[in-house]
Amino acid sequence: MKALAFDVYGTLIDTTGVTTTLHGMVGDQAMAFSTLWRAKQLEYTWRYGLMGVYRNFRICTKQALDFSCEQLGCDLSDAEKKALMQKYLELPVFDDVLDGLERLKSANVAMYAFSNGVPDDLTQLLTHAQIIDFMDGIVSVDVNKTFKPNPLVYQQFVEVAGTAPRKSWLVSSNGFDVCGAVAAGMRAVWLQRSAAVCFDHWEFEPDKVVTTFDEMTDLFV
Ligand code: 2OP
Repeated sequence: MKALAFDVYGTLIDTTGVTTTLHGMVGDQAMAFSTLWRAKQLEYTWRYGLMGVYRNFRICTKQALDFSCEQLGCDLSDAEKKALMQKYLELPVFDDVLDGLERLKSANVAMYAFSNGVPDDLTQLLTHAQIIDFMDGIVSVDVNKTFKPNPLVYQQFVEVAGTAPRKSWLVSSNGFDVCGAVAAGMRAVWLQRSAAVCFDHWEFEPDKVVTTFDEMTDLFV
């Protein structure tokens, strides 16, 4: 029996979905803003993780938003920031995801959402995206009060799924997540969502590399 651990932000859910809302607030800087916001959000998870200080993903996201505003000289009001944080709970699902999840469900593959996000946010996000019912569970790093790629979070996934590490597959577009899973003994598919993104030259490599969700699905049905 295999279990799939789907990374959420960037893999199932498109974090650049904030760009349209941002455009109405910061104009042509929207794409640069979205990229910086996401990069800073992840940087904060890694830094807090190394510091041994836990500030949850929602806090990292808000702090990264405040930083991005100042860095890019965008004077957003509290109401605008609130609207962006709300948008983060309503981010769109990538176009190719629904078909794949349907095929995997028909093949009785065990599927989990596995994310840095806090459980409430993940529930809202996946409900809004109408994909929550495909999941056998939501595994959030929040239980361990640390972030990916701490090995604890991958061990937690394996425990919750009840599968052997070598039968527990991460599916992620985030290279750092793939390296973390492989280093912790899981197997991993790297979903290369953009040809412009390359993989780290580390000894931890994905078992499989795919460029579409459909191609990933073919591996498991
Ligand atoms: C997630 O855990 C890493 O953002 C990514 O959903």
